[in-house]
Amino acid sequence: MKFAFYPRLIFLLFQCSNGSDFVRQSCWEASKSDPKLSYGFCVACLESIPKSQPTSIEELVDMTIQITESNTTNIVSIISKLLQNQTFTQHEKACLKDCFHLYSDALSELQDALNAFKSKDLDTANIKVSAVLDACVTCEDQFKDKKGEACPLTNDNNIYFQLNAISLAFIQMCH
Ligand SMILES: *[C@@H]1O[C@H](CO)[C@@H](O)[C@H](O)[C@H]1NC(C)=O
Ligand SMILES: *[C@@H]1O[C@H](CO)[C@@H](O)[C@H](O)[C@H]1NC(C)=O
Repeated sequence: MKFAFYPRLIFLLFQCSNGSDFVRQSCWEASKSDPKLSYGFCVACLESIPKSQPTSIEELVDMTIQITESNTTNIVSIISKLLQNQTFTQHEKACLKDCFHLYSDALSELQDALNAFKSKDLDTANIKVSAVLDACVTCEDQFKDKKGEACPLTNDNNIYFQLNAISLAFIQMCH
C-alpha cells in the first residue's frame, strides 16, 4: 500500500498558512499521531468550510465526517460516470464496480459512525471509520492486481484516505 504525497497537497499547505489556531493545533497533534496524515491537508480541508469556527475536538470530528460524507457522494457519482465509459477493459470495469459498492456502503457506515460518535460510543465510531478507510485502500489495491492498469480513482482514494485518517486521529484525541 503506497499513498503518494502529491503536489496538490503541498499547494494546499502553502495556501492555508494563516488559519485558526485551534484547527492548526489539532491538526498538528493529529499528524504527530499518524505519520501518514498530512498536516497541510488537514488544515486546508477544515478551513475550507465557510463560517466554521470550531472550538472543540468533537466539532472537528463532526466536521471531518461530514466532509467525508459529501466526498463519498461525489465519488459514487464519479464512478457511475466512469462505468459508462466503454474504453475500460473488463478487468477495469470489474474493479470500478467493486469500488462503486465499497463507496456506496461507506455512506451508511459514515452515518453510523457519526451517530455512534454523537452518543459518545467512541469505539464503534472508530470501528466504522476504520472500515470506511479500508474501503478506499481496497479500491486502490484492486487495480494493482494487473500490471499496466492505472486506477482512475487514485487521487480521490488518496484524499479519501487522508479524510478518514484525520477522523480517526481526532476520535482518538477525544479519549
Ligand atoms: C473531497 O474533499 C476534499 C477536501 O475538502 C476536496 O479537496 C476534494 O475535492 C473532495 N473530493 C471529491 C471527489 O468531492
Ligand atoms: C473514457 O476514458 C478514456 C481513457 O481514460 C478517456 O480518454 C476518455 O475521455 C473517456 N471518455 C469519456 C466519455 O469520459
